[in-house]
Amino acid sequence: MDKIVFATSNINKLREAQSILKDLPYQVIGLDEFPNIPEIKETGKTLLDNSLIKARTVYNLIGLPSIGDDTGLEVEYLNGAPGVKSARYAGGNAAYKDNLNKLLKDLDGVPLGKRKAQFRTVISFVNALTEQWVEGIVEGIIIDKPRGSGGFGYDPIFYLPELKKTFAEIPMDEKNKISHRGLALEKFRILLGKFYLTK
Ligand code: IMP
Repeated sequence: MDKIVFATSNINKLREAQSILKDLPYQVIGLDEFPNIPEIKETGKTLLDNSLIKARTVYNLIGLPSIGDDTGLEVEYLNGAPGVKSARYAGGNAAYKDNLNKLLKDLDGVPLGKRKAQFRTVISFVNALTEQWVEGIVEGIIIDKPRGSGGFGYDPIFYLPELKKTFAEIPMDEKNKISHRGLALEKFRILLGKFYLTK
């Protein structure tokens, strides 16, 4: 079976991609199979830049069709911040909790009606013939106090009005079905099914 490399060392992301793409005639493998590949720096100015940097770097090093992804939380009141800096919003080595607290501080006193946000994931694909990308978006509201104990990152303050719950209050398999990453992977599955991949 032809292989596609997902430019990630995150086993949860890899499993999620493998599960959504399981009916396609490709085997999705992760960077754990290529321990000599150095860390890929996210130096892009946008999520698309970063996802392409990852996919291109891995394609150039390994020569197999490659996927790269990048995700950001975009808050309308903050003109799209933290966005591409979501992982390091409170500084270079910031923990999830530091980033979440910085966001709450930046929105301190801002009324609920002005706290619209979206998670956006861009997935890029690179092979010898083409570069393609898709994005998945989920909209919500940044509430002013964390709720729930599941998930990671900004999940406890990302509230979904239709569900009346935060991402941290729903089980992971339910989150994966409606999340930015799940939606992007679903679009990617349709894209991959449409064209033949030459190695
Ligand atoms: P990455 O591109 O998937 O590594 O995501 C970048 C950053 O966005 C992460 O470090 C998290 O802070 C945040 N993030 C991405 N996906 C999620 C999610 O599903 N829930 C909460 N935070 C997320």
